[in-house]
Amino acid sequence: FHSSSKLSSNHKKRCNFGIAFDIDGVILRGRVPVGGSPQALRRLYLDSGELIVPYLFLTNGGGIPETKRAKELSELLGVNIMASQVVQGHSPFRNLLKKFENELIIATGKGDPALVMSEYGFKKVLSLEEFASYFESIDPVSQYKRWTTMPQSDRKEPAMPRYNVLSERIKAAFVVSDPVDWGRDIQVLCDVLRSGGLPGGANNNQPPLYFAADDLEYQAAFPSKRLGIGAFRIALESVFNRINPKRLECVTYGKPNPFVFKNAEVILSQLQSSSRQDHSKNNRVPGSHPFEMLYMIGDNPSVDVKGAQQGILGFLF
Ligand code: G3P
Ligand code: MG
Repeated sequence: FHSSSKLSSNHKKRCNFGIAFDIDGVILRGRVPVGGSPQALRRLYLDSGELIVPYLFLTNGGGIPETKRAKELSELLGVNIMASQVVQGHSPFRNLLKKFENELIIATGKGDPALVMSEYGFKKVLSLEEFASYFESIDPVSQYKRWTTMPQSDRKEPAMPRYNVLSERIKAAFVVSDPVDWGRDIQVLCDVLRSGGLPGGANNNQPPLYFAADDLEYQAAFPSKRLGIGAFRIALESVFNRINPKRLECVTYGKPNPFVFKNAEVILSQLQSSSRQDHSKNNRVPGSHPFEMLYMIGDNPSVDVKGAQQGILGFLF
């Protein structure tokens, strides 16, 4: 990074580079900032707090809405982070709104996956935990579990299903973040996917299944890497393909998909355009980006580095 004073003296010129930061293993380990990440981020602002280097967070993690994550990151890192600077694995699920806005869908993963999907505009979302609670004995070992994965706000016994889950089919399932109860989730997802969205029955029309990312492992607080959402995908797929005649079909989002990096470029351009120093945007060729260089700073070679190398926009890593 340049020093703060150097950036201050040059800030009248438009910044010709942008940065995408990975979060886990680069900015944070668990909830603890890595090295001098808060100090490094502070150098991207003027003393007045104005952003001078367009940057965003490009993480395959998630589980809470971008607005909340921005607030949480601002507190942990000591800079004012906007929701538009937070791109999580599940952020592109928004683009599926046209398809499923008014359809019954389920969402699972750590945090509050149903809230994430509701904030994107999906009208009929159930967390997998709530959905499972309407089917007696769907999880045959639930009585041995002394914990719940349900967010505090939802922890009340549902008297009546919010939707008619016994007759209305689930139209899509979303793995929004790292699943917490793998055993239950594999069981219930197999039920939903093998029955055409109505557990207990049999129907070969598998509802679409979407994963927010496909990381096999990621760096959290523990010294060695932890199994990620991609490991869960392999576990689910292995079981499903053994018990179902048709192979599992699913779509994975997140890095290293090129569209994630393309989208990051668009956001970085918008961040730069909203800066009062940028007077050049009217002269720009449509579709081109205003940067000489875009940097991706990540810790996962098969996700961050691969994505940056494949990115249609010339991200360096
Ligand atoms: O669950 C988080 C993990 O899959 C990766 O996060 O920030 O390293 O892309 P990140
Ligand atoms: Mg990482």
